[in-house]
Amino acid sequence: MRGAYTLFLLLCGSTCLLASVIPKEEILGAVRDFQQSGHAADAGLDFTHQASLDEHGRFHLLWKFDSETITFEAHVQTTGYIGLGFSPNGGMTGSDVIIGWVKDGQAFITDRFAEGYFEPRLDAHQDVELLSGYENGTHTVLRFRRKLRPCDTAEDREITEDTQRVIWSFNDLDPLENSLAGQNGPHVLYHGSNRGSKSIILLQKNPPTLDIQDSNILSFELTSSNVLVPAKETTYWCNTVRLPILDRKHHIVKIEPIIQPGHEALFHHAVVYQCKLGQVPPMLDGGHECYHPNMPEEWNHCKSIMTAWAIGGKGFTYPNHVGFSLGTDDDPDYVMLEMHYDNPDRISGQRDSSGLRFYYTPIVRMYDAGILDIGVNSYATHVIPPRAESFDSTGFCFGLDPYLQELGSPIKVFASMPHAHLAGTAVRTKLVRNGVFQSYVGRDETYDFDLQEIRLLDPEVMVQEGDQLITECTYKTTDRTQATIGGLSSREEMCINFIQYYPRMKLTRCYSGLDINQQAPFFGVYYAGWEYPFPIYYPDSMVNQTLIDVINQHPWTNEEAERFEQYVRNTQVFSYTVPEVNDYQLIDQPADPTMPNDNSVSIPGC
Ligand SMILES: *[C@@H]1O[C@H](CO)[C@@H](O)[C@H](O)[C@H]1NC(C)=O
Ligand SMILES: *[C@@H]1O[C@H](CO)[C@@H](O)[C@H](O)[C@H]1NC(C)=O
Repeated sequence: MRGAYTLFLLLCGSTCLLASVIPKEEILGAVRDFQQSGHAADAGLDFTHQASLDEHGRFHLLWKFDSETITFEAHVQTTGYIGLGFSPNGGMTGSDVIIGWVKDGQAFITDRFAEGYFEPRLDAHQDVELLSGYENGTHTVLRFRRKLRPCDTAEDREITEDTQRVIWSFNDLDPLENSLAGQNGPHVLYHGSNRGSKSIILLQKNPPTLDIQDSNILSFELTSSNVLVPAKETTYWCNTVRLPILDRKHHIVKIEPIIQPGHEALFHHAVVYQCKLGQVPPMLDGGHECYHPNMPEEWNHCKSIMTAWAIGGKGFTYPNHVGFSLGTDDDPDYVMLEMHYDNPDRISGQRDSSGLRFYYTPIVRMYDAGILDIGVNSYATHVIPPRAESFDSTGFCFGLDPYLQELGSPIKVFASMPHAHLAGTAVRTKLVRNGVFQSYVGRDETYDFDLQEIRLLDPEVMVQEGDQLITECTYKTTDRTQATIGGLSSREEMCINFIQYYPRMKLTRCYSGLDINQQAPFFGVYYAGWEYPFPIYYPDSMVNQTLIDVINQHPWTNEEAERFEQYVRNTQVFSYTVPEVNDYQLIDQPADPTMPNDNSVSIPGC
């Protein structure tokens, strides 16, 4: 990489200096003369979001946004240049990059585009506005603003509510001075190892304010109790816990993770299930591996989800008009805490006491929150081919109407947590009315398994009788040689959106499930057993194989994956809901909704 970069500088060295066409002040946003005093005091004064991009806190980023612009302030431990970019995938190629620095009391910013792993070139249009900048001996601080939706769509990337791969770099040297006025300059030296990528939801809605010091805010914790984490890749550890005994209704208003120091990667996610009312499940000292044959049978009744947290998430504060009800007859007395431990190096002897902290209050709010888990049933019949650049799976919620009728009113969805595993690249839920797309009920087109946040929806989305909720997931399996199947472990896949809404109804899970014998004819198989790995019964010539063998031997290409995707989209599926409706009945999948044509939408201000 360094070789390629040096070559680039050499090639450019002579041509760029000669071609000095654009005057310096037009290329560079330059701001002079900032008061040096008082900077530390007002640093980040009105910024609403912040993150350290590197693990040592050398590159700290603050930001805020409105409906059209985003303003950043970078505090970086260097007196050279700093780079901040918006990448399609975490790499440099195709990234929209901003490089700035401070020299002799003057701050500079440049808007660039990275065509590869070498110096990003200047954009033809400079669309970043420098607001202020200074150096204080150890740090460079730059404040700058850009549009969320750029006019220059060729060289600038739109900043959306999706997970953004933010790339960063810095160097202790400023750009090469002799080329400051060059058409393609100023030239920056290679950043060496001072670089990285971090997934951030830049446009995450600000959480509602909640003063946890308020004497009306109480808290309790649900944690593992010093669990010995098995030396295997994936462990789901379950434990049942008594909720606080309350003499009247309370509302849970905020949930945050408690991560045992050093277990930031081990504690991958947690799901809290409500246990069947009036039932006292056996408690086990320290818990039990979930879904294990020896797990207490009663625990299987704890199916409806109360909340979920996953890696990277900071926790969730309910909007001010909603809370999760505790202490009434309709509320859980016990919960089952399901901890997912991710231990890819199979380290033995780790003991964990991570979990979740719940804040609750007797000052109840207007509405009771419900949580509904929608998407594709997580079972091995959900087949994703290997070597596919992109493969879509679709899940429907067929069981909604009876529950909306029982409730007697529409529901309003206020939050979403998309969930897929390692191969997932996008998750979205479409609200469809009379065959026409209305809006997204949670969406991330650049999903990152390592950053799963509950996202507030603003505005809230109303779902009424007759509406369809269609959840689509996109997977990328170019690095896999075997089929990926649906399931609980991280190497298996899921396609789920946990949506939170009010008022609460009884439905807590609404999936569609794929039928293996509907998919088998694609592979020339006409009857297979229902259990993984699906033994083949017909045709006779294939009885010594399983359907999974046949799928793995299939000559998969992107075209074949696409053909299979279409095939699966046209099969009949079944409905799976909690509370359970037991009749297994195959149903046609609804057609794709009519989508708005957004090519016609012009970008304001361009
Ligand atoms: C320099 O700026 C950085 C970043 O704002 C700050 O953390 C540091 O304390 C400042 N140093 C001095 C000497 O003011
Ligand atoms: C399946 O295996 C059995 C036992 O090895 C063998 O007798 C039979 O011929 C095989 N059938 C096919 C279709 O290969």
